[in-house]
Amino acid sequence: KTRVLTGITTSGTPHLGNYVGAIRPAIAASRAQDVESFYFLADYHALIKVQEPARVQRSTLEIAASWLACGLDPARVWFYRQSDIPEIPELTWLLACVAGKGILNRAHAYKAAVDRNRAEGEDDDAGITAGLFMYPVLMAADILLFNAHKVPVGRDQIQHIEMARDFGQRFNHLYGEHFVLPEAAIEEHVATLPGLDGRKMSKSYDNVIPLFAPRETLRRLIFSIVTDSRAPGEPKDADGSNVFQLYQAFASAEETAAMRQAFADGIGWGDAKQTLFERIDAEIAPLRERYEALIARPADIEDTLRDGARRLRERYATPLLQRLREAVGLRNLA
Ligand code: TYM
Repeated sequence: KTRVLTGITTSGTPHLGNYVGAIRPAIAASRAQDVESFYFLADYHALIKVQEPARVQRSTLEIAASWLACGLDPARVWFYRQSDIPEIPELTWLLACVAGKGILNRAHAYKAAVDRNRAEGEDDDAGITAGLFMYPVLMAADILLFNAHKVPVGRDQIQHIEMARDFGQRFNHLYGEHFVLPEAAIEEHVATLPGLDGRKMSKSYDNVIPLFAPRETLRRLIFSIVTDSRAPGEPKDADGSNVFQLYQAFASAEETAAMRQAFADGIGWGDAKQTLFERIDAEIAPLRERYEALIARPADIEDTLRDGARRLRERYATPLLQRLREAVGLRNLA
């Protein structure tokens, strides 16, 4: 069976970018017969960005409820919280000891932080934690621990998958063939969902549309999407428009073609946004109802997560770590 694995950082409320880029394709893929799927809540990763305990907890609950509302079946899919698997930080250390520091220097998130410091005339590493620097190593441990073949992610994460391959390969080279080398799986037509301001939809840019915003909020946010000033009747550039890109992520091929034509014919922004709102709401409304019911019962979600982690450790994580400890020359736990 092909093993497919992906995670979402629990640093905020899940948004349409997470849905289109990760949750929706992952759940569709998990329905195939010949795959074994691993979906998890990356709460250790959240600590890199968020140092508010209540927010990490709330986000974990919201993202778990979102996966379940979108159709994840915990009886068929491994569904767990990263911090419930102590083998993940343990493997992180084993990998850190083979990972090249030079490779980590090139990680986008770290480099961006250094560039910001330089632009502000600060020391290169001012305010940068070892956690941020180690981010790709922790992510490699997430992936390699379960020997995932495919990792469905947005384009922003490709570099991290390549690093996981690199660390896995070095480890294999030194200690024997323990790890499968993973590959990124990108949904080509929904590469990166833009946010309200046209940049990538991201918690860090504060431009997100929450996945389960109430209907009226969803409408209000969609009407606040930034557009150019072309008036109704003036032809509009579909490919350069974030309204169009969002629509494309939710519409069928025929609907998308019709919208492209409407743009060429000069549809007004108000009408385009209304059509976009209706299309998104039609897909989300039934999921939103399930989400509301799930989030009202946090204890059930907690049980599901703990049960997933317990079974997963027993089946994969604990035995693999035993083999790895032995391979590198550590005493094995009884
Ligand atoms: P995170 O939490 O930033 O995002 C979760 C997933 O959502 C995708 N995504 C998007 N896709 C399309 N358009 C967007 N605007 C958009 N914003 C986010 C991301 O590409 C990602 O697939 N480091 C990861 C979490 C992680 C992980 C892992 C993923 C930790 N360990 C192991 C895969 C395997 C992250 O921060 O994703």
